[in-house]
Amino acid sequence: MTASLFNTLNQKILSNNFTVGIVGLGYVGLPLACEFVEGGVSVIGVDVSESKIASLSKGVSYIHDITNDRIQTCLATSRFQVTTDVAALSNVDVISICVPTPLQKTKDPDMRFILSAINGLADHLRNGQLIILESTTYPGTTDELIQPIIEKKGFVIGNTIFLAFSPERVDPGNTRYTIRNTPKIVGGITPHCTELACNTYHHAVDTTVPVSSARTAELTKLYENTFRSINIAMANEMALMAHKLGIDIWEVIDAATTKPFGFMPFYPGPGLGGHCIPVDPSYLSWKMKSLNYSARFIGLAEQINTSMPHHVVQRIAHALNSVKKSLNGSRILILGVAYKPNINDGRESPAHDIMTELANLGALLAYNDDYIPCLEWDTSYQSIPMDTLVWSNYDAVCIVTNHHYYRISEIVKNASIIVDTRNATKGLSSPTIFKL
Ligand SMILES: NC(=O)c1ccc[n+]([C@@H]2O[C@H](COP(=O)([O-])OP(=O)(O)OC[C@H]3O[C@@H](n4cnc5c(N)ncnc54)[C@H](O)[C@@H]3O)[C@@H](O)[C@H]2O)c1
Repeated sequence: MTASLFNTLNQKILSNNFTVGIVGLGYVGLPLACEFVEGGVSVIGVDVSESKIASLSKGVSYIHDITNDRIQTCLATSRFQVTTDVAALSNVDVISICVPTPLQKTKDPDMRFILSAINGLADHLRNGQLIILESTTYPGTTDELIQPIIEKKGFVIGNTIFLAFSPERVDPGNTRYTIRNTPKIVGGITPHCTELACNTYHHAVDTTVPVSSARTAELTKLYENTFRSINIAMANEMALMAHKLGIDIWEVIDAATTKPFGFMPFYPGPGLGGHCIPVDPSYLSWKMKSLNYSARFIGLAEQINTSMPHHVVQRIAHALNSVKKSLNGSRILILGVAYKPNINDGRESPAHDIMTELANLGALLAYNDDYIPCLEWDTSYQSIPMDTLVWSNYDAVCIVTNHHYYRISEIVKNASIIVDTRNATKGLSSPTIFKL
């Protein structure tokens, strides 16, 4: 049984005579779907969001990196279908699950989306399919949580059906490293599962990196993002210490970066943002807690990183104080509310905490972000276009996200006070500039 189902599926995959179903067409699932279609594979994309499916069906993208043209070209191949109906996946050969893995308010993993995806699929699975989980999650999710649900339906993993974990590493906004040229880690429940998943991805990515288990693949992803979180936290703490010492942290980092070995630069900022770096390490610490182990570095990094928005507010208060103004009643313009430059994603952005604290202290806020016309957390705020800005309307400007379209010298020339959390004013000198 094993060999024949494995061989049949493997042959279909190798000869590109197979269909991939993608569950969740967000920042991860949609670009992956496009890569597969462009690799000549047939794709059925499923999302619970009717508005997303309606938009894609009209050839309109909702992800900044993915152009309408790209969606339309994919649709025109007739190899890309989208639907809200998970039953459409009963005949596909490979199913990739790309649903969100956020945190609950308690900072415990919120597994609702993974569970609803796999439970929704369970009745439509058939012998000889491969299921790959791509959502970032704690080690053990694939074999402790997903595997029993599939096996309850009478399947035997590695025998009648195949299961693997392959973390997505896509970096939205990064034009140099895309899904295609970023190596893909693949860990199956059995060696056959790994082999099938690697062969599947060869149609969408240049390089796959097989590892010995799904758990290894799960921890690899968390290691990568915990590495970033901790190193950013160290850069943030260095910035706090350098500030107390009266030293420019940005100059220190530039100087340290000249060391050709044993150092790689990380930069301080207004706080962590996005759905990955602030979230993923908590999946690992939660899992470790269940094994009676406290993930100390993760906890400390989180403490420092989450304190940064407050530090930014203090810098703004200090800057206003230098011209005998108080935060209360001051008009403050926030530049950039996306969590990183040149993308339209505001999830977990430090702009939220900075603006909330400033508003609580009585500041009168406005913002510009061409990528985010309206704040998700408070729709009464709308982005003010740069060309209509009246600089004299603001007592201070705070650069939270350094979008490429900001003309920094113009900002420095016109703003009364600039609090620069990103070293956007590098090389410019003015008593009105206050760095992190
Ligand atoms: N965005 C990134 O840069 C990035 C990078 C690497 C890894 N990841 C990880 O990838 C996963 C997905 O993240 P994302 O940013 O694409 O999330 P997203 O919110 O952009 O997209 C997820 C999609 O899944 C859909 N969905 C939810 N439940 C569903 C269900 N039961 N059936 C069908 N569709 C469903 C949602 O409607 C949404 O469109 C997460 O685990 C995330 O941590 C994200």
